[in-house]
This record gives sequence, structure tokens and C-alpha cells, in this order.
Amino acid sequence: MSEILLSVSNVEADIAGSRILRGVNFEVRTGELVALMGRNGVGKTTTLRTITGVLGIKAGSITLDGQRIERMTAEARAKSGIAYVPQGRDIFPLLTVEENLHIGLVVHGRKGKEAKDALDRVYTLFPVLKEMLARKGGVLSGGQQQQLAIARALLTKPKLLILDEPTEGIQPSIIDLIGDTLKKLKNDGELSILLVEQYVDFCREIADRFYAMDRGAVTISGPIADLTDEVVKEHLQV
Ligand SMILES: Nc1ncnc2c1ncn2[C@@H]1O[C@H](COP(=O)(O)OP(=O)(O)O)[C@@H](O)[C@H]1O
Ligand SMILES: [Mg+2]
Repeated sequence: MSEILLSVSNVEADIAGSRILRGVNFEVRTGELVALMGRNGVGKTTTLRTITGVLGIKAGSITLDGQRIERMTAEARAKSGIAYVPQGRDIFPLLTVEENLHIGLVVHGRKGKEAKDALDRVYTLFPVLKEMLARKGGVLSGGQQQQLAIARALLTKPKLLILDEPTEGIQPSIIDLIGDTLKKLKNDGELSILLVEQYVDFCREIADRFYAMDRGAVTISGPIADLTDEVVKEHLQV
């Protein structure tokens, strides 16, 4: 069994004085693609925000590569190898595609040949971006913006790529492309992936394991083959 890259242990967190996370437990091993699932409002995005450092925690611990990170700033966690593609893809609408991508490079001080190689790699993964370098991010389609957001995250060369509902509002052909790309990245051994997703068949297609949350805690987990229709009905369907 491979080693643990990310460990989330008994994490509790509040928003505006209400307890939202009530002891979240799960892990991502090196080289895995893990799906974190659950109905709307159960705390998936909040969990991701505690991992990336956007939201502080009340109790529990989070480790990356064996190092405690729960008191580190969001910036320090990004530098340690966590890349986050938030729900609704947070690209800069008034900057061009090229400028959006350069932000991913600059943040981590990547220059010269290293930067060029990294850019070539994302253009190979997402060819449409290369055709649109001079366009403003805001004029791209939803699917193109999602590719841009993932590409920018990859340019930081993360150990752990975290995605929040990347298929939401995106056409099927682009969903397939994103799924194939995530699978390829994982299989190339470049990084591990934590995917928050409600689209069950997408998770079945690409994930190794799943966790499902309900009301601020993980209630069921297993290898993705255990994500049967009964489990979906009981834990995920509205
Ligand atoms: N900014 C906020 N202010 C108040 N409540 C919030 C805020 N963000 C999230 N919540 C509440 O926290 C709970 C979990 O939200 P969230 O983590 O976004 O769920 P999910 O991503 O699983 O749909 C929900 O009940 C939601 O209403
Ligand atoms: Mg959410």
C-alpha cells in the first residue's frame, strides 16, 4: 500500500458561529484519485476550504506528506504543493488566457525552460488553450474556463490537485476530456487528486476510492467498486 499524502483527522469547522464540519476523517494516498461525494450542503466545499487554508479549523488535524499544515497560511500550503480549482472556476475574466496561465507560473517562481516545458505540457493536455492565448478569460465557454483553471493549477506543479465539482455546467464532450486528463495525470504518477463531485458516473469512471459525507462528516467510504446503485440511492440521491 502506498503512503499517505493527505490526512484529514477529526476536522471540525464553523461558519458564522454554526458548526458545519463535525469531525471529518479521510485520506488520499500518493498516486490516488479520491472522490469526496455527498448531497448539496453537506460540507464538501467547506472541507476543501479547510485543507487549502481559506477557512481555519476548530479541532482536528490535517497533514500533507506527514507534515501538519492546519495552522499554515493558504499561501504556504500552496507552496507546499496543494493546488485548488474552486467550484465555479475562478479564473481572471479580464486577463487573457496567456496572462491567466502566467499567474500559475509566477506564483511559484517558475521561469525559463522549466516554465516553457510546463506550458507545453498543459497545451498538450488542453490544446484549445493554445488557440486562445490572446482571448480574455471571461469570453471563454464554461468548459474552456474549466480547462484554463485546471491548467493554471497544474502550472504550480502540485503534489495534490483539489477540484470542486469540475463537471458542473459543462458539456459532455469536455467532461470526457477533463476525465481523461485527470486519469492521465494520475497514471503518469505526477500527482494525486482529490475530487469533490456529485456526478456519480464520472467518479465511477476515474476514481480509485470514494468517501461520502452527510451533515458535516464522512458516513461511508470504500473502493470505487463499492459505490453501488444502493449506496448512491441511500447516501447521495436527493
Ligand atoms: N458563507 C457561508 N455562510 C453561511 N453558511 C454557509 C456558508 N458557506 C456554507 N455554508 C453552509 O455550510 C454548509 C455546508 O456548505 P458547503 O460546504 O458549501 O456544502 P457542499 O459543498 O457539500 O454543497 C451548508 O449548510 C451551507 O449552507
Ligand atoms: Mg460545494
